[in-house]
Amino acid sequence: MKYKKFSKSSKIWLKRNSINKNVLISKEKKLVSRSWFKIHEINLKSNIFKNNMNIIDLGSSPGGWSKYASKYIKNKGNIISCDINNMKFTNNIIFYKGNLLNKKFLKLFLKKISIYNIDVLMSDMSPNISGNKCVDNCNIINLLNLSFKICKKIFLKNGIYIVKAFEGTYLNKYIKILKDFFINVKIYKLKSSYNSSRELFIVGKGTIR
Ligand SMILES: C[S@@+](CC[C@H](N)C(=O)[O-])C[C@H]1O[C@@H](n2cnc3c(N)ncnc32)[C@H](O)[C@@H]1O
Repeated sequence: MKYKKFSKSSKIWLKRNSINKNVLISKEKKLVSRSWFKIHEINLKSNIFKNNMNIIDLGSSPGGWSKYASKYIKNKGNIISCDINNMKFTNNIIFYKGNLLNKKFLKLFLKKISIYNIDVLMSDMSPNISGNKCVDNCNIINLLNLSFKICKKIFLKNGIYIVKAFEGTYLNKYIKILKDFFINVKIYKLKSSYNSSRELFIVGKGTIR
């Protein structure tokens, strides 16, 4: 396989994944991204998606999670997705392009979603990795705080929050904050993540207050 048109990091990823079983199946089924397998695994563990849900997808591009959730919601549900990057999307997905760390855009996005009773807020947002540990950790924490801030603004009693986090010194503190907010908090290391990856996923269900 030739990788000429891809960036250096994409070439490394593609080379590694030409022998990755998930990616081969994903090509066969024409799925959007490797992320599809992660949300599938989370759904199998936590039984999240149901008919007619209203779902927010933060950091949604290229669209794996939105596409996965869209199979469940049927006619009355909605998926509202957002990313800095463009995304191809189908009829039952509403997509907003913008940076959620930008206060003006965040305000607009919150206004748009305020008309829905939200059942699920999922965030797979991750920053561009700079290689500087301090900067990268700081960017990760900013995104975690951002998605939880949105979560607190929109959640009714029985909402579900799915968020990608990374092992690091701040993680226990973040989990504690979620445990003070949700009745049930689960932490998953996924088989579909690389063994070497520090990523993990947290699912919070049902708010305490
Ligand atoms: C791992 S990808 C998400 C993959 C996606 N869940 C899927 O299934 O296709 C992470 C995404 O987070 C987005 N992102 C990072 N920071 C963001 C921000 N401040 N606002 C909006 N999107 C952001 C990136 O642009 C990137 O597309």
